[in-house]
Amino acid sequence: MVLTYFFIILLTLFMLSIYMLDTIEQYFFNREEMELLTRANIVAGITSRHIEYRDDAIARVIDDMKIDRAIRVIITDKEAIVLFDNREESDLEGKVLLKEEIIHALNGKDAVRSNYEESSGWVINTAVRVIKDREIIGVVFLTTSAERIVRFVEDIRNKLFIISLVVSIFIGFFSSILARIITAPILNFTAAIKNMEDEKTIEKVPVTGNDEITQLGKAFNKMSERLNEEEEKRKVFVSNASHELRTPLSSIKVMADSLLQFESLDMSIVKEFLGDINNEIDRLSRIVNKLLLLTKMDAEEKELEMKKVDIKKVIDSVYKSLLPLAKEKNVHLDYEVADSVFMKIDEDKMWEAIFNIVDNSIKYTSANGKVSIRMHKTRQDVQIIIEDSGIGIPAHEIDKIFGRFYRVDKARARETGGTGLGLSIAMQAVKSHSGDIEVSSEEGIGSVFNIILPSGIIWNENN
Ligand SMILES: Nc1ncnc2c1ncn2[C@@H]1O[C@H](COP(=O)(O)OP(=O)(O)OP(=O)(O)O)[C@@H](O)[C@H]1O
Ligand SMILES: [Mg+2]
Repeated sequence: MVLTYFFIILLTLFMLSIYMLDTIEQYFFNREEMELLTRANIVAGITSRHIEYRDDAIARVIDDMKIDRAIRVIITDKEAIVLFDNREESDLEGKVLLKEEIIHALNGKDAVRSNYEESSGWVINTAVRVIKDREIIGVVFLTTSAERIVRFVEDIRNKLFIISLVVSIFIGFFSSILARIITAPILNFTAAIKNMEDEKTIEKVPVTGNDEITQLGKAFNKMSERLNEEEEKRKVFVSNASHELRTPLSSIKVMADSLLQFESLDMSIVKEFLGDINNEIDRLSRIVNKLLLLTKMDAEEKELEMKKVDIKKVIDSVYKSLLPLAKEKNVHLDYEVADSVFMKIDEDKMWEAIFNIVDNSIKYTSANGKVSIRMHKTRQDVQIIIEDSGIGIPAHEIDKIFGRFYRVDKARARETGGTGLGLSIAMQAVKSHSGDIEVSSEEGIGSVFNIILPSGIIWNENN
């Protein structure tokens, strides 16, 4: 790009020089021609009165006029025979001088012309009629060398050439510096991207300054950071997932091994072991199912099946599904959602989100506790509030509970059968509807989970 600009500038400089030189040359030639023509007219005017007296009289008049010695003055009669020539060594007098300009003049047209002659280089010639009593009686022919002008223009041309050369060197020099300044960060990008491609490392580029490239660099670095975080999350997720899957598997293995060690066993012991093995298998399949659901949601985030759904109906269904669990745990499940609100949502995912939160509330509330489900519709949003009088969540854990496999009390989790994936699934589902989940909780008193859905997804008949 810089090179292109460099050549454009050079070309412009070159064209401008040519145009300028041409104009200057034209101007000086025109001026000289006009001057010579004026002078010829004056000479013609004066000599018209003396032409009959021939040589002496004319010579005196011309002398009196003090014409520049560089201008050759020739006067002819109407037959183009030279009557006077101001060159002393001239042998033209008495001879016919057939100059083009003279012939033109005798034909009635005064002429001025610049042309190149082998012998004397560039000359300006002019021929003006000498008129007396409306008749052409002769011609004044003035000629002068234009070499001065040519040399002057040549001089300018040489100087321009030198100036152009110096300017080009300067421009070239600065262009290359500029090119380096511009391309250095781009080369850094390319190197960083190539490294990411080849070695699967996520790199940052150095950024200094405040120009557009720097901003690009900052954006690039932010992106790298995001990628790094995502990569880190992915690693943690994979290692957590393997760990979570390995735990029930090793329990099963241990129990199966112990069963195999004995030759004969009491059927009741065998049953007990098999019961435990069965529980671990249930746990495994719960984890696998939830993992599958999560990864499916990751992959399909942009392809939700948005339909017109009454959110009250979804909460109803969750309530009905969890009522038996609440009864079994002797937890009072309070439900007060009065109005229908039609929203544009993916019904299954929203069900999953609400289910996981109500399920937690029942799970982490002890007997005689209370869980309530309510719904508010305000101008900005729809809020589904699930409140419990359960064990609560320590303040410093609240940020973490949405993390995959995260459980506050890991020891208890084994009893409750928790996988630590429920809230990640809920958050993912709500986020994919542009919503959010807020939590407030106090240990020993209870927790409030608030699912906030933006009013933008409330169904209106126009969409
Ligand atoms: N209502 C609640 N009261 C107290 N603690 C809660 C509540 N909801 C969630 N938690 C805490 O947050 C953790 C994460 O919840 P999450 O639903 O993701 O996992 P889980 O309930 O343990 O397992 P899963 O839901 O997959 O069966 C829980 O283990 C629990 O410690
Ligand atoms: Mg849960």
